[in-house]
Order: sequence, then structure tokens, then C-alpha cells
Amino acid sequence: MQTQPPLDQIPPHVVALDDYEALARTRLDDNAWIYLNGGAADGITIRNNRGALDSISLVPRVLRDMKAGSTSLTLLGLQLAHPVLLAPVAYQALFHRDGELATAMAAAATDALMIVSTQASHTLESVAQAGEGAPQWFQLYIHADRDVTLELVRRAEAAQYRAIVLTVDAPVNGIRYAEQRAGFRLPPHVRAANMEGLDSRPSPNGHGHPVFDVAMRGAPTWADVEWLRQITALPIVLKGILSVEDARLAASSGADAIIVSNHGGRTLDTLVPTAYQLPYIADAMEGRIPILVDGGIRRGTDIVKARALGAQAVMIGRAYIFALASAGALGVAHAVKLLVDELAVSMALVGARRLEDIVRDHVIVPHD
Ligand code: FNR
Ligand code: LAC
Repeated sequence: MQTQPPLDQIPPHVVALDDYEALARTRLDDNAWIYLNGGAADGITIRNNRGALDSISLVPRVLRDMKAGSTSLTLLGLQLAHPVLLAPVAYQALFHRDGELATAMAAAATDALMIVSTQASHTLESVAQAGEGAPQWFQLYIHADRDVTLELVRRAEAAQYRAIVLTVDAPVNGIRYAEQRAGFRLPPHVRAANMEGLDSRPSPNGHGHPVFDVAMRGAPTWADVEWLRQITALPIVLKGILSVEDARLAASSGADAIIVSNHGGRTLDTLVPTAYQLPYIADAMEGRIPILVDGGIRRGTDIVKARALGAQAVMIGRAYIFALASAGALGVAHAVKLLVDELAVSMALVGARRLEDIVRDHVIVPHD
């Protein structure tokens, strides 16, 4: 929970997304902070996501004609002013009283495509409404009961979501030492609003470990991606791809895009940093379907690196939630603006007039 009301002005010392991290820490209780900022086990993937981005160097081009430059792009039929998307983050009422509603307003105001979590603390319909007609995508978890899943998809279609983002990397919760040590609990007023009256847990069946007998029993497989392809005309984006072979399978199973992600280091610790795996996936995909990436993105230069390594767009997770906890919709809008402004300056300084002008030669990856 917030321990102080959100700010109604941005303090002048907040000049970078990292500044919101420090600000959010002073405004959230330990419970919310540990859920937000923590990760799986020892937090190695969280550190390595950032470390990978920091270890990649930029190689600029100079004296190019930069007239009519732009950060815009087209993604799955949407015209976007910039490639910064807001990653699905559950239970945003933990971080701000208006939660996802505040995020949706900020997203609409800054042309940042918001991806609304299945586990949002407001219903997907109310978040769509708060977004005032701006395009949004819906993040889906496939439930053990496929009728529950189907109903969520139909509701997302009815509420005019423009794509289904199927998260494939979290069929069970990761092991989170920090949450366990702190005894993390959702406060009673924070709930998975979309799942009210719908939740279904498979009953134990089998003689193996409970992870397999209960949690994984209803877990999705590639057949479910094909099923999803059959039941909806919306574009399908698979979130949580790290293996080159899975990226190929995604394309052949009918996915329209993939997100190279390790869930921000919240599932299995020591997963490969996304920035290091991205170029291998991009090479294998040969442009067949768009690739997005997340994990530690905090700076305009990170976005240039992501583009150079083969991603069309990036998502930020914790970074915009820090801003939400600090200053609500105003904070989120300011955070997006900071990042897009940094991107524009970075593009100008590496000699890329448009996102397509950012190429592999713009970066040096240490183990290339
Ligand atoms: C997440 N993430 C996430 N992903 C998803 O598919 N569904 C979800 O409900 C959530 N919930 C969630 C809650 C919180 C508190 C965090 C921090 C993250 C993962 C998220 O979409 C994204 O992959 C990572 O957050 C990206 O890494 P960074 O930007 O946080 O480093
Ligand atoms: C998380 C789940 C909700 O990362 O995806 O906490």
C-alpha cells in the first residue's frame, strides 16, 4: 500500500526513470515494495537484465541528414507515436488507489500502448473505459478451465482490446525468497477483479509432486496456442519466449508477434538476460513476425540497443509502476515522456532519423 498520498507535482530532481524507484520506495510499505521490486530466488536475473543492457556499447553515426526524424512505428496494425509499451503488471491497486485506471489514463495521454493484466485489480472493462478509446492489449493467463479462458477472451473482444498477449512463461509461480521472508500478502481490498466468481483450481490428481499434480495439470501447451488461434480473430502475442526454437514454434503456431521476456526476473532465477538472447531470436525469425522485448529497460539508450538487436518495440514494467506509486497518472505520463525524450536524443546522437535506421552496427555486444 501507499504510505503517503501520491504527489500532485513532479519534484524537479526526478529526471530519469531510476529517480522514480527511489521515490516509490519512500511511499510504499514493505509488503507492496517487495512484491513490486522483488524477483525469483536471489534476484540474479533482475541484475543481469540490467547488466546486459549496460554492457552493450553504442557506435554512433555522425553528420547524417536528420530532417523529419520520428520515433513512430506501426505494430500489428496500430500506428504508435513511439515504441514504449506498458507491460502487464498485476494488482496495481497495491501501488496507487486508482491502480490500472490511472495507468490507462496516462497511457492514453502519452500514446503508450497499455497491456492490461488478467490479474488487474480493476475489471478489464473499466480499464478499457479509463483508456478513453486509446488502443490497449489484454494479457491472458490460460486457466485450467478453458471455459474461464474463453470467457476472458470474449470479454476482451467485447471491450475492444486490440490483441491478446498470452503469457507463456509462468505456468506456476516462481519461488520468491524475498516475498516468503517478508510474508507477502495481498491486502483484502486488492483483488484479481477479472477473475471474480471465475477462478478454478484443479483438484489434486496423481501421485507425483503437487507442482505437477495440481498447479501444472491445467497448464497450457502449444495446442492451446492453436486453440486460441481458432477462437479469436485478434492478433496473438506470446509473452515470455527465450528459446530460439520456441520463437520458431510461436510463428508456426499462428502467433502474430512474440515478446522476448524473462518476466522481469520474477519466475525462474538465472534465466538468460533478454538483451543477450534477443539477437539470436531475431536472426532465426528473419522478420517473419514482430519481436518485442522487456527486462530492465530504463533509458532511451536501452531502446536503441533493443532496436539494434532486432526488437520492434520495448515494454517497461517496474519503471512505470514506480512512477504510478509516486505520482499516479501524472507520474506514469511523466515517466513515459522522459523515456521517449531520451529515445529521441539517443536516436539523434547515433544518427538514426527513424527507428528503421537503427541497425546492428550501432551496437557492440561483449560476447559477439
Ligand atoms: C509483472 N509481470 C507480469 N507479466 C504478466 O504477463 N502478467 C502479469 O500479471 C504480470 N504481473 C507483474 C507484476 C509485477 C509487480 C511486475 C514487476 C511484473 C511481468 C511484466 O509484464 C514484465 O515482463 C516485467 O516487469 C519486465 O521487466 P522490468 O521492466 O520490470 O524490468
Ligand atoms: C507476477 C505475476 C502476476 O509477476 O505475473 O507477479
